[in-house]
Amino acid sequence: MTQPLTVAVTGAAGSVCQSLLFRLAAGEPFGQRPIRLQLIERPEAMQVLRGLAMELEDCAFPLLESVTLHDSPETGFVDCDYALLVGAKPRSAGMQRIDLLKDNAEIFAKQGKALGQYAKPTVKVLVVGNPANTNALIAWANAERLSPSQLTVLMRLDHNRAKGFLSRKLGVSPQSVERLAVWGNHASTQFPDANHVHINGQPLRRGLDIDWYREIMIGEVQLRGEAVINVKGRTSAASAAQAIIDHLRDWMIGTSTGDFVSMGVFSHGEYGVAPGLFFSFPVTCRHGHVDIVEGLELDDFCKKMIRETEQELLRERQAVLSLLPEKSLARRGFTSLWGSLDCAE
Ligand code: NAD
Ligand code: LMR
Repeated sequence: MTQPLTVAVTGAAGSVCQSLLFRLAAGEPFGQRPIRLQLIERPEAMQVLRGLAMELEDCAFPLLESVTLHDSPETGFVDCDYALLVGAKPRSAGMQRIDLLKDNAEIFAKQGKALGQYAKPTVKVLVVGNPANTNALIAWANAERLSPSQLTVLMRLDHNRAKGFLSRKLGVSPQSVERLAVWGNHASTQFPDANHVHINGQPLRRGLDIDWYREIMIGEVQLRGEAVINVKGRTSAASAAQAIIDHLRDWMIGTSTGDFVSMGVFSHGEYGVAPGLFFSFPVTCRHGHVDIVEGLELDDFCKKMIRETEQELLRERQAVLSLLPEKSLARRGFTSLWGSLDCAE
């Protein structure tokens, strides 16, 4: 009998989870493994969560072994194999994702500590709550036992958006678009990179309308989250759930041969990006292991775009130094990544 997977999800009563939980319970991303869901919410949202749990029961999902409800990460993360950190405040019209840092950063420091203490030592953590890249850094820095390779950041919504724009422009199926990359921060500085794309296995380079790509597509992808808020009045939810399913499936089962996807992962200096950031790179996955794609050629335009989004992440890191516990990081050999700045433990 296949061992069940224990999946902890924060923000379980929120909008993204309204779609996500039912697809997890149906076994979509995990290769039909039995699932135990540990759903975590703020105490004031537990009533809604109880209703959602009743609906999950009413679906009689064959793979769903159990659902437990928790109002603290300390109980909710116990022995989990996967932790999906969705719970955080979303932005509203007129806000940038960085504006959420002051409200959301503490959540990830607390959850990082709990993950380090209560999750399985092999736990895989996906950070979704915004600003997701810097929240991931905070969660990892506070999770004593976790290596940075155990955390990834959701960039798949941006990746799927870019794929959608390109496939609609070219009149091809999204499935035929491969080797697309989104670099950097899940923010308006992100760099959707179509320079390496293959369509049906053939390089697109000469068939790409460079003016459209640089002047229209890049900006549309960068600002798509904001455009959805302006039209719908609320942030994306179902498309985010789809992106989480895609991300988890690739992380666990593996990416398709010859293709790559975009994930926020810990930087060690790849492509000249400063070490110690959760930065989106083109990656391949195999058996749960993520590798940054090496050797892509970057022209001056790409380098400039990557530098801009890197600089934004460096500024975000600087703004949360007080939440990156210096002594604990030094014990784990990491402080040298950003020098002995003014960190407090
Ligand atoms: P929402 O407001 O509908 O739901 C958030 C839920 O999180 C609420 O139910 C709230 O009670 C809960 N929550 C808040 N603090 C919590 C905590 N400390 N522990 C447990 N639960 C907590 O928001 P949403 O639309 O579901 O979005 C959630 C987050 O995901 C937001 O920050 C949003 O910006 C982000 N998001 C990111 C992406 C991405 O691509 N990275 C995509 C969509 C949404
Ligand atoms: C998105 O990209 O749609 C989400 O990150 C929500 C937002 O604030 O834009």
